[in-house]
Amino acid sequence: MAMIEYDRQAAAAFVAGRHLGDDALAAWRERVAHHLRPTPATRLLDLGSGAGHWAAAFSRWYGIDVVAVEPSAAMRAAAEHPTLQGDAANIPLDDAAVDAVWLSTVVHHIPDLPAAATEIRRVLRPGGLILIRSAFAGRTEGVSLFRHFREAARILDARFPSVEAVVSAFGTAGCTEIALEPIPQRTAETLADALATFDRAAHTPLLLLSDEEYATGLSRLRAADPTEPVIDCLDLLVLRAQGAAHA
Ligand SMILES: C[S@@+](CC[C@H](N)C(=O)[O-])C[C@H]1O[C@@H](n2cnc3c(N)ncnc32)[C@H](O)[C@@H]1O
Repeated sequence: MAMIEYDRQAAAAFVAGRHLGDDALAAWRERVAHHLRPTPATRLLDLGSGAGHWAAAFSRWYGIDVVAVEPSAAMRAAAEHPTLQGDAANIPLDDAAVDAVWLSTVVHHIPDLPAAATEIRRVLRPGGLILIRSAFAGRTEGVSLFRHFREAARILDARFPSVEAVVSAFGTAGCTEIALEPIPQRTAETLADALATFDRAAHTPLLLLSDEEYATGLSRLRAADPTEPVIDCLDLLVLRAQGAAHA
């Protein structure tokens, strides 16, 4: 079961509050291309694809075939890319069906990471890539929200997996870490813009706060300089499945 339930309200909050435009994601576009080296023959699985924002972006940016898989019916109903039902323990694809697997802000929702790593390895061709975009335990300093909601950073440190835990789970499944890099995104032009569309329901760590902790963080956020740009860094962790040589 996911850390929070992605019902219709959560899906709507996520689409409204977390989907960014191409300019805001320019660094992600460049760094994913650097690792993926997409060609028209590349087939990528977007696992836990939510409302399909990354799946649609990768199709548009790189001209590749993207298969989206998502467990929540509400997220699938809101999706901007065709989406199959499934989850990290049950991926509805054949063995060695894809060249790469993308997981964006999903790993903390997966209840059994070693089992998921084995299932992901099954659908990945030998030598294929796993690209994980996430905030990891112990690495929250790049996320601006946590400067205001400090208690949420402590919750993330306690409840989200660390890089080491994810690398270990995938290591058991025969995959090796090849890169870890923080990548910036322009979340909003100004803090005032971010506040105008701010919704607690779009951020899992904020949903895990008490109402009092949330109110404290919100007052810190409202007291900050409204003209400052909001730049956030999540990590890109890249692993490669053992097997055939790659180009
Ligand atoms: C924060 S959203 C991210 C959605 C999308 N990847 C994105 O970045 O826009 C987390 C997603 O993970 C999905 N999820 C939860 N548990 C999962 C699991 N065990 N396997 C795959 N996806 C899962 C949720 O339904 C939700 O859509």
